[in-house]
Amino acid sequence: MEAYHTNLGNHDTSVREAATHDYVRFWDGEARHLHWFEPWSQTLSWNPPFARWFVGGTTNMSYNALDVHQETRSDKPAIYWEGEDGSTRTITYGEMYRMVCRLANALEGLGVKKGDRVTLYMPMVPELIASMLACARIGAVHTVVFSGFSSSSLADRINDSGSGVLITADVGYRRGGSIDLARTAKEALDRTPSVRHTVVLNRAGPAPHGWIPWSDMMEHPDSHRAAAVSSTDPLFILYTSGTTGKPKGVLHGTGGYMTHVHSTFGWAFDIRDGDVYFCTADVGWVTGHSYVAYGPLLCGATQIMYEGVPDYPDASRLWKIIERYGATILYTTPTALRMLIKYGDKIPRSHDLSTLRLLGSVGEPINPEVWRWYHDTIGGGRCPVIDTWWQTETGGMLISALPGIESLPLKPGSGTLPIPGVQMEVVDEEGTPAAPDTKGYLTIRNPWPGVMLTLWGDDQKYRDTYWSRFPGRYYPGDYAKVDGDGYLWLLGRADDILKVSGHRIGTAELESCLVSHEAVAESAVVGVPDSIRGEGIVAFVVLREGIQDANIGQALREMVAGQIGPVARPDAVYPVPALPKTRSGKIMRRLLRSMVTGGSTGDTTTMEDSSVLDGIRDSIGGRSG
Ligand code: PRX
Repeated sequence: MEAYHTNLGNHDTSVREAATHDYVRFWDGEARHLHWFEPWSQTLSWNPPFARWFVGGTTNMSYNALDVHQETRSDKPAIYWEGEDGSTRTITYGEMYRMVCRLANALEGLGVKKGDRVTLYMPMVPELIASMLACARIGAVHTVVFSGFSSSSLADRINDSGSGVLITADVGYRRGGSIDLARTAKEALDRTPSVRHTVVLNRAGPAPHGWIPWSDMMEHPDSHRAAAVSSTDPLFILYTSGTTGKPKGVLHGTGGYMTHVHSTFGWAFDIRDGDVYFCTADVGWVTGHSYVAYGPLLCGATQIMYEGVPDYPDASRLWKIIERYGATILYTTPTALRMLIKYGDKIPRSHDLSTLRLLGSVGEPINPEVWRWYHDTIGGGRCPVIDTWWQTETGGMLISALPGIESLPLKPGSGTLPIPGVQMEVVDEEGTPAAPDTKGYLTIRNPWPGVMLTLWGDDQKYRDTYWSRFPGRYYPGDYAKVDGDGYLWLLGRADDILKVSGHRIGTAELESCLVSHEAVAESAVVGVPDSIRGEGIVAFVVLREGIQDANIGQALREMVAGQIGPVARPDAVYPVPALPKTRSGKIMRRLLRSMVTGGSTGDTTTMEDSSVLDGIRDSIGGRSG
């Protein structure tokens, strides 16, 4: 019998008890750990599906992340930054505060006001976090676009959000090379009429003509009075893939999100003053928002920020970083772990990882054997591993063991329990509770502070996407089961969203990109199991009449990478004579998937024309892209 445990010695049952007794009152108490300019008059306004927390209260995220630490921690490192080439910087809480104040003053000088949108397209540098905090400081809404996205993805997000200012960098560094972000940004700017000013962190040379160099921004005064913004005012938009062709703008608010992130960061990571926390997520994704940019700063923690990939120049990179800075907490993804496992135990074992005391996983299901390797080889058998489940939409963790407050047995592969104050249920198609150990749909029965405000500009879509499948409940789109101990096991997406290396990519988005090519009449994209990245992308296309091109598969792979970003590049694109469809015309993705994985195609009686499968079999047997 395995005995894994959150063995950090904390056990405060009062937290869960209070939360179970009255979740609204419980979160009211949690919010009081933060600074408010004006207290709220109503803890929760719940007008389903719209939750508004701490109504009437005013606060500021940047004030809570920086100003509150100035008396006690101004010399404490907020960020140890390391570049892929080994260069390092240390930014203290005092330096971060001054940088953010200068930027906030500069942005105000550019006419940015409360509620205005600012797009940030930057690599993993402290200036990205500073830019987010500067927006928050004046009440502007930031929208960070992952720096691996293409110019058209960037332009679409700028246009959808109506951003008036773009902050970017000239280059990012990755896998030994540099990425020309300025060129991508310039291409995007050709079709973004709303952008009045472009600010550039020019790392490699002078600022491009007409753009404002970073040094100009830093000439502004280094103090700034943080705006008192309403708790319910928006803090940021983060675009994420859904089941339609167009990414959704997830809109998060201020006070609720801040409370959720602050509490969960402390509970999950048992954060203490001497900790050195290391999260490998890019700030361009939600993990980087909640648990790189905001959570650590709200809690006054020191963190490591690394710009680069985990296996460059070799597979010892993460372990070297942990050793160099004495990291105590590591938060990473199953994909990164699976990639590093394949290099064997010798590399991590030859590094001093003894400072680690807690390990976390996020973004995709973690296989039990990977969990055990993480626990035994990286954690030396002494560090609890927490598997944290949540989404862009939830703002922060909703399922996780919480070693900071609870002592709990751990089961490899299970996220354990919902966080205090959140009631979950796994249900069947009809919405009735599923029996223990039976696969069903995860649902959430009550609002939590980090829940999104809405989808940017589309309340109806917010209602339809998350609150209609099971009326009165939030439906995240995940399969799950509950075991006899009430532990939750997450079993992957129940919709057409893929998780490739933990990145979320909608099949509809890929399909609409593929059919935008003049040679393509129809397309269908499926996810197939991948031993490292969790899922890989395989596309099927039906070409227009008369098109014969032996290289079309390769050309289409590159087109998708160019139009969406390299993370979305399909592993293979197969031209096929026709797609398998039901009589009502629905594409049968299940069949396509089993044709790639070699599984049984099962029942095909609902197919309109079963000879289609032979045509596909012939096509994928021969050519691939
Ligand atoms: O399917 C779940 C999976 O990632 C989805 C959310 O993706 P995203 O919005 O990009 O946020 C990722 C970072 C929080 C979920 O619907 N997911 C996330 N964490 C886990 C997970 N699946 C299993 N276990 C997890 N710990």
